[in-house]
Amino acid sequence: MDKLLIRGGKRLSGEVTISGAKNAALPILCAGLLTADDLRLTNIPHLQDVLTITKLMKQMGLRVQENGEEVVLNGNDITRLEAPYELVKTMRASILTLGPLLARFGEAKVSLPGGCAIGSRPVDQHIKGLQAMGAEIHIDGGYIYAKAKRLKGARIVTDMITVTGTENLLMAAVLADGETVLENAAREPEVGDLAQLLVKMGAKIEGIGSDRLVIQGVERLHGATHDVIADRIETGTFLCAAAAAGGDVTLRRTRSGLLDAALDKLREAGAILTTGDDWIRIQMAARPKAVSFRTTEYPGFPTDMQAQFMALNCIADGTSHVTETIFENRFMHVQELNRLGAAIDIEGNTSIVKGVDKFIGAPVMATDLRASASLVIAGLAAQGETLIERIYHLDRGYDRMELKLSSIGADIERVK
Ligand code: EPU
Repeated sequence: MDKLLIRGGKRLSGEVTISGAKNAALPILCAGLLTADDLRLTNIPHLQDVLTITKLMKQMGLRVQENGEEVVLNGNDITRLEAPYELVKTMRASILTLGPLLARFGEAKVSLPGGCAIGSRPVDQHIKGLQAMGAEIHIDGGYIYAKAKRLKGARIVTDMITVTGTENLLMAAVLADGETVLENAAREPEVGDLAQLLVKMGAKIEGIGSDRLVIQGVERLHGATHDVIADRIETGTFLCAAAAAGGDVTLRRTRSGLLDAALDKLREAGAILTTGDDWIRIQMAARPKAVSFRTTEYPGFPTDMQAQFMALNCIADGTSHVTETIFENRFMHVQELNRLGAAIDIEGNTSIVKGVDKFIGAPVMATDLRASASLVIAGLAAQGETLIERIYHLDRGYDRMELKLSSIGADIERVK
């Protein structure tokens, strides 16, 4: 299994191009199931999760032509309306095939995703919403079996804000009979990006970007071309890396308006940020200052940036409180950061981080995607060598991270 070896202490300087967003690309690829026409998608990131979802959809009969960051999908010959456990267990986002399959073909069999490293993550809201639209759903042998001749528009109020839940119900509603209102909808930019694509395909959606989506179902959707939105979490991760290691880095093909809450925290930590239409520059000369925050749904501070900011706080001046409100078990990085010399205590869903002068390199283990990113950031700032094991977690969600980092001066290499 691959590992990452980082010799820390190098300042970062130069330019990095940000890739398309993982969490937009995954639902957008699933939207290929909604039409028999071609869907031409650009800015698709090179990620293991993207390979997994395309593998799943090829099994269903979707034709996929890949050419670098461009992918053309054709759903004229979908024959298998099933997402098997073998693939769903490796990637929960496979649940995003449920809504489109049911809406277009009236039937779907999708494995229930199990728990995962960051929490139990049930999909009851996806099921509740589809049932409200008239689907008959039963669970047997670990699979969700769903049927509906044609889904019917409904008013759906989810118990909590759910990103993939909103996306699944949105993809179901666009082909349903009549009007669907999704209340308490997730406002994450990736949901908005999916909605924009659906509109290009002929869907009728109002309220994009708000917590109330109103959808008038149509008979069929047609082909479209779409450029996937920039990855705000990759953007934030590189900003944290520069803030922790020090330096002067410009990120291209990204948008500052996608991560206001995280940028405010970086400024509070002492970073100088300048931004343009499609770039962000960070300059960091001094030791960071500790910043406290709590994770919330968009536009609040993203849970997907919690671990990376925690790494920054570990070597900051002062003590910070980091509260995780979205997932119940998203502090797996704490013990590993402590192995690198950090001083973090956990009390319930809050981590209390006492800033230390520096990280000292050590072997550590990645436990999930964003936890891995926090270990990379710590390794870049650490004195000496850090060896990170199990980086397959990192490869799921970051596009060639070590190459991008070495291009701006990091001493980082992939070792077997
Ligand atoms: N929830 C339920 N029932 C449901 C759905 C969600 O109880 O039916 C709970 C979850 O257990 C969680 C909360 O609601 O406590 C929010 O979960 P949500 O459904 O919003 O998460 P998700 O859609 O499964 C997406 C991202 C995650 C990101 C979260 C929160 C994708 C493919 N995944 O997950 O991304 O952390 O939203 O923003 O979009 C990552 O990229 O590292 C990652 C984990």
